[in-house]
Amino acid sequence: MAVLAGGRCLGGLCSRLLGSPGKLWFLRRQHTDGQYKKASFGFQSVTEAEKNEKVHELFDRVSLKYDLMNDVMTLGIHRLWKDSLLRLMNPYPGTQLLDVAGGTGDIAFLFLDYIHSQREVQLRRDLKSYQNLSWLEVSKSYQKTRQDLLGGSHVVICDVNQKMMAIGEKKAQHLGYTEGLSWVVGNAEELPFTADKFDVYSVAFGIRNMTHIKQALQEAYRVLKPGGRFLCLEFSHASNPLISRIYDLYSFQVIPVLGEVIAGEWQSYQYLVESIRLFPTQEEFKAMIEDAGFMKVDYHNLTSGVVAIHSGFKL
Ligand SMILES: C[S@@+](CC[C@H](N)C(=O)[O-])C[C@H]1O[C@@H](n2cnc3c(N)ncnc32)[C@H](O)[C@@H]1O
Repeated sequence: MAVLAGGRCLGGLCSRLLGSPGKLWFLRRQHTDGQYKKASFGFQSVTEAEKNEKVHELFDRVSLKYDLMNDVMTLGIHRLWKDSLLRLMNPYPGTQLLDVAGGTGDIAFLFLDYIHSQREVQLRRDLKSYQNLSWLEVSKSYQKTRQDLLGGSHVVICDVNQKMMAIGEKKAQHLGYTEGLSWVVGNAEELPFTADKFDVYSVAFGIRNMTHIKQALQEAYRVLKPGGRFLCLEFSHASNPLISRIYDLYSFQVIPVLGEVIAGEWQSYQYLVESIRLFPTQEEFKAMIEDAGFMKVDYHNLTSGVVAIHSGFKL
């Protein structure tokens, strides 16, 4: 194909000349490489600056209905996927987490719940070993642990979109998450944190929207402490052809309609579906994480690969 000279699109000609499969291949290539000035916004080819702006505007517009849409669109299954992320993370009291593209805070809240439950278990275990202590000693020790149910753990929610985080902050107040979390506006591709700072970096359904995924991965590596863990929960590619077909039909025929009915946002949810199609496969993404310097990179498919969790360590 002469028009794909060196993988570049000559004046946008190729996207007009290529049919659907060719166009999909070309757009995925752009998306994976990230080195071109053009970027894909769903199946549209736009400049990188335009993509940043469009992604920002999109999350501005959907922010109010974002949580509701997640529940409706996935029939609540996104909660199970997020639970799986936390189980894999298995944070201990004291863990410093950075949740990038944290949006309305779901991962942060699950993290705090997880740490609380870990501390409760610890508390009960300690109580059993208190048998030889006096009542006063037991009481003091119990109260001390109860006052510090997070054990020094902290989560920073970082997102480029203030409106998404504003919804998250309201949710945090409403649900009673007052300690152990902070909200920082920042771009994943240029994180406003010093190097070697966090034990865990998580990103859930966020990396697909970034313009320079490779740069975001390098930033993840930079801010993690040596020994720290990278975890990414993202829509991926179903391995079973039947599930893949059903999922495709559901994605392209139902999701934009739901987006329109619930949020008045057909285009935004059309983008969501298209961006999922363009995201690298599990193996391709694994290679990208390795290229950023991570070791022991692995992934776990959820719901037959509709979603995958990638994990890697800074060693
Ligand atoms: C689909 S939402 C995911 C929110 C949340 N993690 C969840 O699982 O519900 C994607 C989020 O990524 C954020 N985002 C997109 N590009 C970003 C970037 N370059 N840096 C930081 N956040 C970004 C958006 O603002 C949005 O809040």
